[in-house]
Amino acid sequence: MKTVLEPFRIKAVEPFRITTAAERETILAKAHHNLFLVRAEDVMIDLLTDSGTGAMSAQQWAAIMTGDESYAGCRSFYELEAVVRDLTGYRHVFPVHQGRAAERILFGCMVMPGQAVPNNAHFDTTRANVEFLGAAAVDFVAPQAADLAAAAAWKGDLDLVKLEAWLAAQPKGSVPIGLLTITNNRVGGQPVSMQNLRGVSALYRRYGIPFFLDAARFAENAWWIHRLDPEWQNVPLPKIARAMFDLADGCMISAKKDGLVNIGGLLCCNDDAVANKVKNLLILTEGFPTYGGLAGRDLAALAQGLREVLDPEYLHYREASAHYFASHLSQLGVPVVQPFGLHAVYVDARAMLPHIPVQQLPGQALACELFLQGGVRSVEIGTLMFGYTDRATGKPVVADHDLVRLCLPRRVYTQSHIDWVIESFAELMQRREHIRGLDIVEEAPLLRAFTAKLRPVQVPQGAVASRA
Ligand code: F0G
Repeated sequence: MKTVLEPFRIKAVEPFRITTAAERETILAKAHHNLFLVRAEDVMIDLLTDSGTGAMSAQQWAAIMTGDESYAGCRSFYELEAVVRDLTGYRHVFPVHQGRAAERILFGCMVMPGQAVPNNAHFDTTRANVEFLGAAAVDFVAPQAADLAAAAAWKGDLDLVKLEAWLAAQPKGSVPIGLLTITNNRVGGQPVSMQNLRGVSALYRRYGIPFFLDAARFAENAWWIHRLDPEWQNVPLPKIARAMFDLADGCMISAKKDGLVNIGGLLCCNDDAVANKVKNLLILTEGFPTYGGLAGRDLAALAQGLREVLDPEYLHYREASAHYFASHLSQLGVPVVQPFGLHAVYVDARAMLPHIPVQQLPGQALACELFLQGGVRSVEIGTLMFGYTDRATGKPVVADHDLVRLCLPRRVYTQSHIDWVIESFAELMQRREHIRGLDIVEEAPLLRAFTAKLRPVQVPQGAVASRA
């Protein structure tokens, strides 16, 4: 079937302003060709992130009205706790305001300067929270993830061979915690197989290292296990999710993704001593442990979101939307990272715009052109985000890839919106040779992508390429 049947009706609408191409020129110039500096009301279709941008269900809005706002021991907390225990099996459940709060608190309790934390791939904030404590965040990306165009399965896996060799070489007591991110956001939202989850769990156990999942997109990972692994084909999704959580000692969850809420997070664990430390730090910086920096209504909406997210109809629709989007782009000849994940479709901008030298930021150039073409906001994951100027040599250091991430907010856009984005890409493909690169005019020393000012390259391409 060609039509993506969204398994919901729309009860509340949020109109967006339809801008003209000329208006978008002005908007982009004012934002210095940085889409983070564009106001959301000037965006027609916002695919910047799937984090906190989903639509809540009627039942979640109803829960908002019945949330208990008591400071201590609110009913909404106990309802959430019961849902999370049922889902994960973990004894201790702490609400936090979002994923990075869970990271800061958990690492603050467990990680010391000079130590190292392994993961399949740390998300930016996870890495930053490890490094903030003076520890090293070490990634073990599976080898099958290296080729962006290869439709290999389980590209989110952790490289067990490398992890094992690395663990064997670490001094005793220098690895305070082991992580695994499901799905693997840094590697295109690719899933982690149950076999890999088992292997990682066994390795961490063998070395006596507490194992925590970064489970922001646990439902999407469970869906891929159901779809791709014959062993789990006939197993209900909550059982698959539980099997993943059972392999670890706890988890951190940014509930802004598969919690189906606009704000919220969770930190869960089994160990009483860890839970005690977490509780004390939580009180210090987030709030009393039965609300953790959230309103009672947020807890109630999250409990309901977690009840809804493992609905196979919903996850099937999510896969159908991502598949529709990715396959139509591929048919146009747009180089799409394979296989597609559920939370986003990634375009390889270097492959689409080979005439733009990497120093001239092909990913950012493509993201800007997509905005000019269709009022669509995406995000560059490439040299603007991860590149930097080497202090010693003064030379620019480029990223491994220049990708454009087109995130799919949950239950927000319909097939028609996605068709609009596909049609915008069709136009871009027609005139791709004429798309120009960008120069950075101003940049911050850290996290430059968020505030950098850019402008289209001013001189003929050949001259700039030879200068770079
Ligand atoms: N872990 C993963 C895997 C994430 O993708 C994110 C956020 C976090 C942790 C941090 O959670 O934002 O609630 O504090 N990812 C968003 C994104 C921001 O756009 O991919 P947070």
